[in-house]
Amino acid sequence: MAIIAPSILSADFYELGKQVEQVERGGAGLLHFDVMDGVFVPNISFGAPVLRSLVGKTSLRFDVHLMVEEPGKLIPDFINPGTEYIVIHQEACLHLHRTIQQIKQVGIKAGVAIDPGTPVSVLDCVLEDVDLVLVMGVNPGFGGQRFISQSRRKVEQLDRIRREEGLDFRIELDGGVTMENALGIRQAGADIIVAGSAIFSQPDIEAATRRFAQLLE
Ligand code: DX5
Ligand code: ZN
Repeated sequence: MAIIAPSILSADFYELGKQVEQVERGGAGLLHFDVMDGVFVPNISFGAPVLRSLVGKTSLRFDVHLMVEEPGKLIPDFINPGTEYIVIHQEACLHLHRTIQQIKQVGIKAGVAIDPGTPVSVLDCVLEDVDLVLVMGVNPGFGGQRFISQSRRKVEQLDRIRREEGLDFRIELDGGVTMENALGIRQAGADIIVAGSAIFSQPDIEAATRRFAQLLE
């Protein structure tokens, strides 16, 4: 079984509270927060104040995806009882192992993300330490892009490694997910599947979330 993690990057911020309730009712497993700094990626989104505005308002836990340079500096802002994962990019960390430990030391699960152009092998030295690996299905920065199909092979590769080596990190796929490709991504080994535009651009957000949740059950 896999869970669906709606990305609020594609939400209507005027309606944010209402739309979060809709994905919760639809059976979302986590709420995905795309934090962008305009430096690591060519776009700026939102930061910790948006997450804090939802604390106590939803029972969904937060999956914080930091698309920022030097994420270590921002980690303290996202320490919160509602935060399940903080995910940093391998490409943005000079001292990846240290930044992973920084997250774990505060009792939050640590994830590491890789871009489409980054091979799984760069994670060899940290797979034992992480709780989650996020495979990008698109180049980070924007919602609504087309899925890059090699990403699915990276999910398969990670799934094989964790079985062969007896590791227990979760695998998350983020970017380009649709109702058409989600099942294949799940079958490749993903446990958490992020969807932004495929949920929030639908007229009935609750029903769209439920369709994903049922498909991935
Ligand atoms: C991309 C973000 C994704 C994005 C997914 O940089 O990390 O989480 O919101 O959006 P869709 O599902 O529309 O590709
Ligand atoms: Zn994301």
